[in-house]
This record gives sequence, C-alpha cells and structure tokens, in this order.
Amino acid sequence: FHIDWDLMMAEKNGFDTFMLKEIHDQPRAYQDTMRGRINEGKEIVLPGMTLSAEQIRGLKQIHMVACGTAYHAALVGKTVIERLTRIPVEVDLASEYRYRMPVIRENTLVIAVSQSGETADTLAAMREARQCGARVMAITNVIGSSVAREADDVLFTLAGPEIAVASTKAYSSQLIAFYLLGLFMAQSMETLDQASLIELIAMLERLPSQVEEMLEGLEPVRQIAEQISNQNHLFFIGRGLDYSLAMEASLKLKEISYIHSEAYAAGELKHGSLALIEEGTPVIALATQELLLEKTASNIKEVKARGAYVIALALEGQTELEKTADQVIYVPRTYSLLAPALAVVPLQLLAYYTASIRGNDVDKPRNLAKSVTVE
Ligand code: G6P
Repeated sequence: FHIDWDLMMAEKNGFDTFMLKEIHDQPRAYQDTMRGRINEGKEIVLPGMTLSAEQIRGLKQIHMVACGTAYHAALVGKTVIERLTRIPVEVDLASEYRYRMPVIRENTLVIAVSQSGETADTLAAMREARQCGARVMAITNVIGSSVAREADDVLFTLAGPEIAVASTKAYSSQLIAFYLLGLFMAQSMETLDQASLIELIAMLERLPSQVEEMLEGLEPVRQIAEQISNQNHLFFIGRGLDYSLAMEASLKLKEISYIHSEAYAAGELKHGSLALIEEGTPVIALATQELLLEKTASNIKEVKARGAYVIALALEGQTELEKTADQVIYVPRTYSLLAPALAVVPLQLLAYYTASIRGNDVDKPRNLAKSVTVE
C-alpha cells in the first residue's frame, strides 16, 4: 500500500492558516479516499480488507468507538451502515465504552475511528473490545499508527496530513470512508439493488466537484460570521443526519471561536432548551434531510416565535425555508445520506471566519491538542 504524500502538502499552500488550506483540500481528500476503491462506477472494492462477504453476512451488531470529531463522524457512519445494511450499530465515546460494560456477543464488529490513530481512549476501547472477542476495524488517517497496527482491518482515509487542531478534511474523509464501507457491506449482503448501488456511487463520485463548486460561492457565510461573531451563545438544530452534523458544527465553532454553542435534536427543543431562546438568539437550523424537512420547518417556526434569528442550511431548491428562516444557505443537491459530506463545508467555514474575526489563533486553539495520548 503506497501513498504519495508530497511534503509540500504540509505547507500552507498560499492560505493564511492550515485550517483554511485543509478546508480547501477536501475535494482532493475525497478523491484520494475513493481512488482505487470504486470499480467502473458499479462496485466498491476495498483492497486488503480481510473481512469476508460471509463474515459480513454473519455480523450481528457493530459498535463504533471514537473521540471528538471522529465520534461525530461515527454518528453519521451509524446511520449510513444501518440504512444500507440493516445491521444494528451503536456508537460510543471511547472514554465511556469500557466503563459501561458493553455487550459484545459473537459476530460483533468494533470500528475504531481516529484521525491520528493515537488517541489513548480510542486505543484502550479497541483493546478492550478485542479482549472480549470482537473483531476490530480501524478507520484512520495515519499509516503505521497504533490504531492501524492493532486492528484486524484498516480502512485508511487519505486526507493527507492534518495540521490544524480543529479537524476538517479528516472528518469529511471519514464520512467518505463510511459511505464506501456501507456500500461494500451492502454489496456482500445484497441489501441494495444494483440500480440503487450504481446511483449512489455516481452521487458519491460527484461530491468532490460539488465541494469545489461550494468553496467558490461562500461569501454569504462570511457575512453570517460577522453577524454571529459578537454573540455569547448560539444553537445548532437538526434532525437525523442533520443532528449528527449539528454536533460537529457546534464543536467546530466552540473549539476555535470560543463562543458557547450547543447542538440540539430539533424535535427535542420543546422539552426544555426552548427556554434558552431569547430575542435575537442565533439558531442555525440544518435542514438537508428532505424526509424530515417539514418537521424541521415547524421547529424553525417554534424558535422564530420566541425571537430567534434563524439561519437555515438546505439543499438547493428547498426554497420554502425562505418563508420561515431569516437567511438560507444552500448546498448542492445530493442524496440525503450523502448530504453531511457537503453541508459540513459551510459550517467549517462559519467556524473559521467567526474565529478569525474574533482574532483567535485558528490553527492552535487554547487548551487543545491535536492528538490526546492520555486517558
Ligand atoms: C483531539 C483533537 C480533535 C479530535 C480528537 C480525536 O481532541 O483536538 O480534533 O477529534 O482528539 O482525535 P483522533 O485523532 O482520535 O481522531
């Protein structure tokens, strides 16, 4: 397995910060992560994967363990794998996994997700799982890392070196890895008909150019960053995959802008958190999931009625949100399952611009480290 990581990739490439460079690097990272893994647009091939089709068909459950941003990628991964294969998936924070005495039955696959492959909690969780008899797969960005060495199988993300502490291209490449894995498993299990498989692969292959297109038209995001940069707290809301993405968007903003933000499942707001909404409170409503659009729109109305200033994120064409939200940012159309890989881009940039307007050191946020090797 050979990877040609040009040393120059570790430079800023004309960008002011590593984070901005890494955000712009995503079309390439997506392409590299897919390269050699899609056969003529109709089949996923994962060279080196030792997990056989028979073993995949025999899987009773999947556990995923990860920390931070990788945990948020795993939450998306859960939905992807469950939808495509109907295998039940649980996701745990690696630091919690061992202490909850997880039920690891026969035919359990544990997937450890880690950009660095060195996070102490993730390593400890995967070791525990192995000891209990689980088969372990790693999704990591670093060849030769501890997580990669200790796993039975590794699916590398080929995002290239990520220098900024706040993860961007590693997260989104983890999503690509999950799409590949989900489709690969669906092929073995025959849970997806050939036509749907081909369509999904075609949409997957469009993602790099769609991200590129988005990166050219994101001036409105900078304007929104101006508006929120003097706020003390704000909220992200969403349902389904939009909720998983909301958690990542909120973490990104907190990490580098130091503005307090929280992600809520949109439907859960009325069970308490709605009390926090005041006149002018910014609420970023993620609404890329077409089946849930109506429900999310009604949650937007709930917060609007309490005075929130709502910025919605929707797929192109979902213009009905303009009636309820104060502003709408559009991302190119794709399948709902793939939407997080596009919708994450404006959210990364929102965090980035907000942090830079506040004069923060975007690449090295206070108190945080790129890789955490203590439990
Ligand atoms: C640290 C980093 C985060 C990262 C987390 C997990 O907290 O600051 O950006 O998501 O560790 O790291 P890993 O390398 O395991 O993905």
